[in-house]
Amino acid sequence: MATAYLNGTFLPLAEATVPVLDRGFLFGDGVYEVIPVYGGRLFRLAHHLKRLKNSLAGLRMPNPMSDAEWETMLAELVARNDGPDQAVYLQVTRGVAAKRDHAFPEVVRPTVFGMSNEVSVNRDTAAEQGIKAITLDDIRWSLCNIKAITLLPNVLLRQQAIEADTAEAILINNDLAIEGAASNLFTVRNGLLITPPNSNALLPGITRDLVLELAANHGIPFREADIPATDLYRSDEIWLTSSTREISPVIQLNSTSVGEGKPGPLWHRMIVLYREYTDAVRRGEAG
Ligand code: PDD
Repeated sequence: MATAYLNGTFLPLAEATVPVLDRGFLFGDGVYEVIPVYGGRLFRLAHHLKRLKNSLAGLRMPNPMSDAEWETMLAELVARNDGPDQAVYLQVTRGVAAKRDHAFPEVVRPTVFGMSNEVSVNRDTAAEQGIKAITLDDIRWSLCNIKAITLLPNVLLRQQAIEADTAEAILINNDLAIEGAASNLFTVRNGLLITPPNSNALLPGITRDLVLELAANHGIPFREADIPATDLYRSDEIWLTSSTREISPVIQLNSTSVGEGKPGPLWHRMIVLYREYTDAVRRGEAG
């Protein structure tokens, strides 16, 4: 039975409940993080906690815990759940107000919730095969840099991708390819790795940043630049990155093959570097 954390207490996930007046339930008024765990160790924790802080600040919510308190709580959550490889889900809402009112309540205690699921070790095999994606209009709001729990557009977009027999939607805004419905976007053209620059239009992905760091450390040419939607079809490779999917090579976009219709050479190189990094996390030699 999975163990959850709710407002200071560890308890069975099935027993974790929040009042219906919680602003997360009524307004989607909260933020979240998804943090991978490799070999029982939290991956890039400092980066996730920094993004959490930024998201909370974006909603003008106080951070309910110090970094040290987050770390202690998360380590215990991981230890209480099964499996060396997990995905931690963390959510902070503005809390339970006395009545439903759009305006912030004057005094309220944030609701802090965490849970963790075991992750299958078969993800490498799935990645080898590559995924299909479609392009869809980006129907989200203008503060996509905040990791808000208000995910209705992302949910609708991902569902549309699934119903088109693909794994993810690549979102197009003003003729630019921005990111996936729940992932960041990279293209490769003539050996150059390209990803859109961070802005309010997209989530600053932790996986994205590590891919750029690995490229910089290993002499792989890269650029943070806008990607015109039409360039997607001229790309040799397309990747989608996230904490849960790591680096997924896209082998088909809409009805068109990407490159040779199989994971490309730079993806093969990057996934080796990425694996070296996650293995170092397992050994406690990287954060
Ligand atoms: N989503 N862009 C969006 C819109 C996302 O929702 C995510 C992650 C990313 C990738 O960020 P990171 O590399 O930090 O996971 C980019 C998580 C996994 C989710 O919603 O479940």
